[in-house]
Order: sequence, then C-alpha cells, then structure tokens
Amino acid sequence: MRTSAVVAGLGSALPPNRVTNDDLTKELDTSDEWITSRTGVRQRFTVPVGMATSDLAVVAAQRALSSSGMTTVEAVVLATSTPDHPCPATAPDVATRLGLAQVAAFDVAAVCAGFVYALATAAGLIESRVVNSALVIGADTFSTILHPQDRTTRVIFGDGAGAVVLRAGNAAIDGALLAFDLGSDGTGRDLITVWGGGARQRSSRIVPAAADLHFAMQGKAVFNRAVQCMGTSVAATVRSVGWDVTDLDLLVAHQANARILRAIGQQLDLDEDQVAVNLDRVGNTVAASIPLALADAVATGRLRPGHHVALAAFGGGLTWGSAVLRWPDIPVAME
Ligand code: COA
Repeated sequence: MRTSAVVAGLGSALPPNRVTNDDLTKELDTSDEWITSRTGVRQRFTVPVGMATSDLAVVAAQRALSSSGMTTVEAVVLATSTPDHPCPATAPDVATRLGLAQVAAFDVAAVCAGFVYALATAAGLIESRVVNSALVIGADTFSTILHPQDRTTRVIFGDGAGAVVLRAGNAAIDGALLAFDLGSDGTGRDLITVWGGGARQRSSRIVPAAADLHFAMQGKAVFNRAVQCMGTSVAATVRSVGWDVTDLDLLVAHQANARILRAIGQQLDLDEDQVAVNLDRVGNTVAASIPLALADAVATGRLRPGHHVALAAFGGGLTWGSAVLRWPDIPVAME
C-alpha cells in the first residue's frame, strides 16, 4: 500500500485581546445587530502590541506536537499572509523556536485557502518520502494590516493559529488524508488585496500610500464565488474517494461568514449540524480558520474518531481547495 499522510495531532492558539462587537461600535459606525446578522461574528481576538504571527504559530505548533505525542517532525509548512517580515519566510524561525534543528521549513501564501494548500504540500512531501512527518501550521494576524477605520473588514477578521502534525502511514488508517482538490483564478486578483509594498510598486518607483499597505476586500463580489468554489470543490473531492456528500459527518469550511456557510450547506444539501461553525467566537482568522474550527469541533464533541470529514477553503488570489479524511482518535490541545 502506498504511503499516505496521516493527521496525528491538533493544536490551536488565540491571542489575548478579546474584541466584542460592542467594543467595535465605540470606534466604528457599525452595530452589533449589523455585524451579527450580516456576518455571524460576535467577537474576535487580536494580538497585543509587539506580538506577531510567529508567536501564535509556535504555541499552536507546540500544542499540536503535544497532542500527537511526538517530539520532533522533519518539516514545518506555515500558511500565512501576514509573515513577521516580507523576507525571510517565518517558518524557519518557528521551527528553530520549536527546537526543530535544520528541518525543512517554508511559508505558503494562499490567503484564506492557505491551510488546505499547506496541508496538500506537506502531504505530498510525505507521500513522496521526502520527509516522514511534518507540522502544518495556519497562522495570521490580520488585525495588523486592517485599516483602523475600515468597518467592512474590521468586523470580520480576527487573529489566531492552528496546527496539525502529519506522519507517514497508510490510507486505511483514520486520519489519512485521502484526496485533495486545489484551484485558483487570477482574474479575481483585485478582489482581495494588500496593493502596495511589493515589487510591482517598487519597480514602478511608486512610494506606497498608507492605504496601499492596508488590506482591502470587495466582499459582495467575493461572496458568491466563495460559495460556488467551496461547494464544487468539496463535491469533487468527496466523489473522488467514492463517498457521497450524504456520507459526510462534518464539513469544516473556511469561517468567512455565517451566511456563506449556510449557503454551502444548502448547495450540498447538508443539515445545519453537518457544517462546523466557530466564527461567532473567533471571526475570520484567515489561514488559521480551518484548524481553529477543527479544534473547536473536537473539543465540543461535534467531531469524533471515524467521522467522515471534508475541509474546504476559499481566499484571495482567488484560491480555493478541499480535502477529505476520516477523523483520527487524537486529543486536541487548545486554549
Ligand atoms: N456596519 C454597518 N454597515 C456596514 C458595515 C458595517 N460593519 N459594513 C458595510 N456596511 C454597509 C455598507 O456600507 C452598505 O451600505 P450601503 O447599502 O448604504 O452602500 C451595506 O452595509 C451593505 O454592504 P455590503 O458590502 O453589500 O454587505 P454584505 O451583505 O455583502 O456583507 C461582507 C459584507 C463583507 C460581510 C460580505 O460581503 C462577505 O462576507 N463577503 C465574502 C467574504 C469572503 O468570503 N471573503 C473571502 C475569504 S476571506
């Protein structure tokens, strides 16, 4: 039997600053009623001054390692769009702080689809026997790139990190990653952006305006694409392993908006309790979204060993992806 990548540990971390909808109404022209009804988010967590993405990534990774019972891995793949610095990648620093000397370590940038892209990348390294184990971390601190007065983004996004440990095994084991689907569409590149600060502006001798360095999203234009891409991707991945969508015990989709999650559920004909929701408590945490939702689902007993689970993500680029597995019998380590 060919080698498969198997989920062996799960951990998550949230920063200490809790920001409720009422807190935001003191700074922005918005209301708890608008945020709750249009997005489903009730609170989010943000980093305090001086805390960065790697700090959350290290804690989530330590917890995933402790959940797995393993003390070392051979690769660290970090999904993030808010690295500590534009250069170098953040993953080597995270690996060193975890005590993982000289392992392969690199970042993957696919915005909100980053965790599924990183999972597929690490699984590929294991299946092709480049490494025997890996940490896959999704970590972002979008609070550091949002414009303080942008009510359309500040109400949605929160900071966080989640991680899984993968080890080599075979497809018959619970936890084996059975199939992936990944996609992109660069014609949508203007819909989710941090426009300035990159090579395009520098080579054009343009000094970025302050607004160019903040995150911007055309939410309405993205909404339907998110539903359609995640729904279609999940259906394809589920079919590719011989399952039917009705076999799914839980869909863990990117936590962008409660209305998007409801629409995907309707598109796939899933009951409400077959779709994981934790965005009410953490908001949209970008690359951390799926592992945080997984950790929440395990902690609340919603996701149990042997369950058929699909992961689905969608984000800037545009990018999207999905994966399927049977959930393994592992403890979750979280806050
Ligand atoms: N508080 C109060 N009003 C707000 C608001 C806020 N925080 N944000 C926007 N509004 C206003 C708008 O100005 C607009 O007012 P107008 O009608 O007078 O112009 C109105 O509410 C409706 O805005 P709109 O942008 O059409 O709202 P929406 O229902 O589309 O919800 C999002 C906005 C961002 C929540 C939603 O579009 C969304 O979730 N999109 C998808 C995000 C996504 O999947 N991203 C990809 C992965 S991260």
